[in-house]
Amino acid sequence: MLTTLSGRSVLLVIGGGIAAYKSLELIRLLKQRQAKVTAIMTKAASEFVTELSVASLTKEKVYTDLFSLTDEVEMGHIELSRSADLLVVAPASADLMAKMAHGLANDLASTTLLATDKKILLAPAMNVRMWQHPATRRNLGLLKADGVLTVGPNDGEMACGEYGPGRMAEPAEILAAIEAYFAGGALPLMGAGTGSRPLAGRKVLITAGPTHEPIDPVRYIANRSSGRQGYALAEAAVALGAETILVSGPVHLPIPPGAQMMPVETAAEMLKTVEAELPADIAIFAAAVADWRVAAASGEKLKKGAGGLPDLKLAENPDILKTVAQAKSKRPKLVVGFAAETQNVVENAKAKLAKKGCDLIVANDVSADKGVMGGERNTVHLVSATGVESWPELDKREVARRLMEDFARRIGAKA
Ligand code: CTP
Repeated sequence: MLTTLSGRSVLLVIGGGIAAYKSLELIRLLKQRQAKVTAIMTKAASEFVTELSVASLTKEKVYTDLFSLTDEVEMGHIELSRSADLLVVAPASADLMAKMAHGLANDLASTTLLATDKKILLAPAMNVRMWQHPATRRNLGLLKADGVLTVGPNDGEMACGEYGPGRMAEPAEILAAIEAYFAGGALPLMGAGTGSRPLAGRKVLITAGPTHEPIDPVRYIANRSSGRQGYALAEAAVALGAETILVSGPVHLPIPPGAQMMPVETAAEMLKTVEAELPADIAIFAAAVADWRVAAASGEKLKKGAGGLPDLKLAENPDILKTVAQAKSKRPKLVVGFAAETQNVVENAKAKLAKKGCDLIVANDVSADKGVMGGERNTVHLVSATGVESWPELDKREVARRLMEDFARRIGAKA
């Protein structure tokens, strides 16, 4: 059965970009759930979708021009901005985000976004380089600090042919974020302005998932990590108000709304990305980094037969946790490692704490019978210089929530 959004009113700002066509599907999904949808289109948006198609889906007047006197008489932009329960910007272009971050108001979309007293949810969409540009990163930080919510972007192939983060979240994902907002319960998970936000203004860096170490262009060394614990931690960090950077190896999980995803493949890429993201207040290393890589990965697909078995020489990967924990400069205040053990869990975790030089090891038992790897539940032990704290078996998201609150306390962050 579909959830109902009956009685809810969404003001959809359609920015310019090829992803604008997806906003039509978003309107359809919202209307299917009986939400009222009113749309504003920027000038650039009308290069990609027509006012007529938007109007026929919303069944409402479409607003496009700040200076249309008729519109101002019928409904001024101030009223327009306040008549909705939630403002959704999809696609949110780099230009719109920049305007919002700096309070510019030179067209109907930006004026409405500045005049509103309602929550704003952004679904950014832009070229990878634009998304990763320091200016966009800065703007995103400012917007988050203002309490603006985000969903996506996802990584994937883009219309411009490049690959990476910048693809607008799918309409179903944006819908899920809107439903979560209206459901209220999930609101803090999206970094909204309610609830306790002890990590507001703090930066949390999280590694997650496995790494893939290439053998040749089609084969790689990997492990069974699902990335769930790291992603749940990112979700919890966003909920506590942190600027959350998720450096993730290849996994099949949706990006937690509000977290900034930095996709990587190998351990070397993960280290480089992590170092580029420092300084941070808290760094959490939940990734299952491959210990070894093939020293000289083949540029061509290895063929069987001819030369007998391939002679795969392994080289040790950099230890990312150790590198950051023992860094002379930019060491985060709290450095947390994870230990996946199959025996003597606590003893091994204590040894790992000393070897890596981190402040805390979250140890879990990954013996096959415990079903932790790839599973939904986890039993953890917190090992620090001051002692060991063992928690009961919990859902991974609950573990993440409690861990993040614990980390916030350890750095002295107060709500
Ligand atoms: N880790 C890391 N970089 C690596 C290896 C591990 O950042 N190259 C981090 C993991 O993210 C985790 C912690 O180190 O937080 C512990 O990893 P684990 O694989 O359990 O420890 P190892 O150092 O590999 O020791 P061992 O294989 O002997 O258990």
